[in-house]
Amino acid sequence: MSQPHPLEPDVVRYYTEVFVEADRLERSPHGRLEATRTRDLLSRLLPPAPAMVLDVGGGPGAHAGWLAAAGHRVHVVDLVPAHAAAARRAYPEVTATVGDARRLPVAGAVADVTLLLGPLYHLTDQADRVAALREAARVTRPGGVVAAATISRHAPFMDLIRQGRVDDRTRPALLAAYETGVNDPVSGFTTAYFHRPDEIVDEFRAAGLPAPRRYGIEGPLWPLLPVTGGPDEDGPLFAEVLRCAALTECDPEVLGASSHLLTVARLPQSRPA
Ligand SMILES: C[S@@+](CC[C@H](N)C(=O)[O-])C[C@H]1O[C@@H](n2cnc3c(N)ncnc32)[C@H](O)[C@@H]1O
Repeated sequence: MSQPHPLEPDVVRYYTEVFVEADRLERSPHGRLEATRTRDLLSRLLPPAPAMVLDVGGGPGAHAGWLAAAGHRVHVVDLVPAHAAAARRAYPEVTATVGDARRLPVAGAVADVTLLLGPLYHLTDQADRVAALREAARVTRPGGVVAAATISRHAPFMDLIRQGRVDDRTRPALLAAYETGVNDPVSGFTTAYFHRPDEIVDEFRAAGLPAPRRYGIEGPLWPLLPVTGGPDEDGPLFAEVLRCAALTECDPEVLGASSHLLTVARLPQSRPA
């Protein structure tokens, strides 16, 4: 079993000691919007079940469990040992190991689909993000699909403003992150990188992943959602935000307004010689 990368101790510490990831996608309207839209996109973009899905950065298995329930075979690789263990515990049909997206402990061309729904926004160095995408390409079979999530550059600002958490202490770090994309953990989040929409296209191409297509996940209206509230309170506003996200998902003029993008490429049927 490979060990967490020595350069990412803050990511491991954050998810082990600070933040509860297991129900993140259920406990807030924004989380439920992200989950609903991500799954809607994956349902349309993935091959029919049963496919072999490698869920890199799959965390405690929220999407992995959903994919397994849909009939796919799913293996999670995650940097955080507690996440891999939680995925195995919560979803016995899902297998999970500890590993780093940049050096996957997986043989080549084994997956029909490789997901990176997490690692790219925790790698601040572009060379590391491209390495993770190259690894995704290596472990995916010819004709298979690579799909990666990124956090948008402006999203932390929008999120903290709507939560009333921007003040003289947090504002300088937020402005710096807006300028450079690199998060200062003083914001309350951990080591992170926030993409501009064109950067992810460059990174896919640099990793040899052709013709990447980008989809806005939450759409431009997500900041209107209340910060807290249970699923029973997801009323007409939630439904309109969801509809708007679907309507505008490929509109280049509003792509960067989503808080996450999903970028997808299909590998050529045969590898270049
Ligand atoms: C916000 S969680 C997302 C979990 C899940 N994929 C989802 O979309 O809900 C980000 C996950 O990426 C994992 N991660 C971060 N950097 C990674 C890396 N270099 N290699 C593998 N996993 C990584 C974290 O441990 C965490 O489980």
